[in-house]
Amino acid sequence: MLNKLNPWKSQNQPSSLSDRISQIKSQEVPAHIAIIMDGNGRWAKKRSLPRVAGHHEGMKVVRKITRLANKLGVKTLTLYAFSTENWKRPKMEVDFLMKLPEEFLGTFLPELVEENVRVTMIGHKEKLPAHTLKAIEKAMESTKDNTGLVLNFALNYGSRVEIIEAVKQVLNDVDDGKLDRERIDEETFSSYLMTSGFQDPDLLIRTSGEIRLSNFMLWQLAYTEFFFTDVLWPDFNEEHFVEAVEVFQGRQRRYGGV
Ligand code: IPE
Ligand code: IPE
Ligand code: MG
Repeated sequence: MLNKLNPWKSQNQPSSLSDRISQIKSQEVPAHIAIIMDGNGRWAKKRSLPRVAGHHEGMKVVRKITRLANKLGVKTLTLYAFSTENWKRPKMEVDFLMKLPEEFLGTFLPELVEENVRVTMIGHKEKLPAHTLKAIEKAMESTKDNTGLVLNFALNYGSRVEIIEAVKQVLNDVDDGKLDRERIDEETFSSYLMTSGFQDPDLLIRTSGEIRLSNFMLWQLAYTEFFFTDVLWPDFNEEHFVEAVEVFQGRQRRYGGV
């Protein structure tokens, strides 16, 4: 079939990435995208490299996808970087993962500042090594007045612990008379979660072919659209991200209605 605007271009011909980006921007862009960045280990294994080489490669993808999300006008990009269950991994791998924020922000922070990106974090800070926390806090401080994309790292994050902590805090506030038991609704409860102030994700992407949530944002993903891909995180590129957003834009969200 011929394309009416450009008779030389068949509709089956793939459009260029910049055409696809313009097309996406002319429709509703998901305001909050969350990504479970998975498959770094398998990417490395396929190349007979140590698992950490996959994590290092994955860090470069974070940079690419952050820039594109910002360009598309996404408001929040939440990246699952380390789960409360990931401490089970060999110490050497955990140590490497805990050094990545410093390395990433060490090279990328000036660019984030310049691109008006604001860095935030969800997760349990207590257990993080001091050097990891310092790097994140420095980035949060130097980008706090930025008004563009919010780049939210889920670091030592686990949804069940988050919910339990919220329940405990709600009980404390009821006991202290700060909160009326009868006034606890979804909105009130959400405000006790680590994601307080963020809207729920519109789109969740998980790479590497695993079809599960792995304890990620169980409350917040209640009505999120899911996009699963077999692509391993270090291979995930702008085209894949654009494809996920295109698929999202083709979905019809009903929230239980008709
Ligand atoms: C995701 O990649 C990164 C983290 C969980 C920190 P994995 O390390 O889980 O890679 P696979 O799943 O073993 O391939
Ligand atoms: C989820 O990936 C956590 C992150 C991507 C940070 P995992 O690789 O830890 O998940 P499982 O163990 O396969 O469920
Ligand atoms: Mg994994």
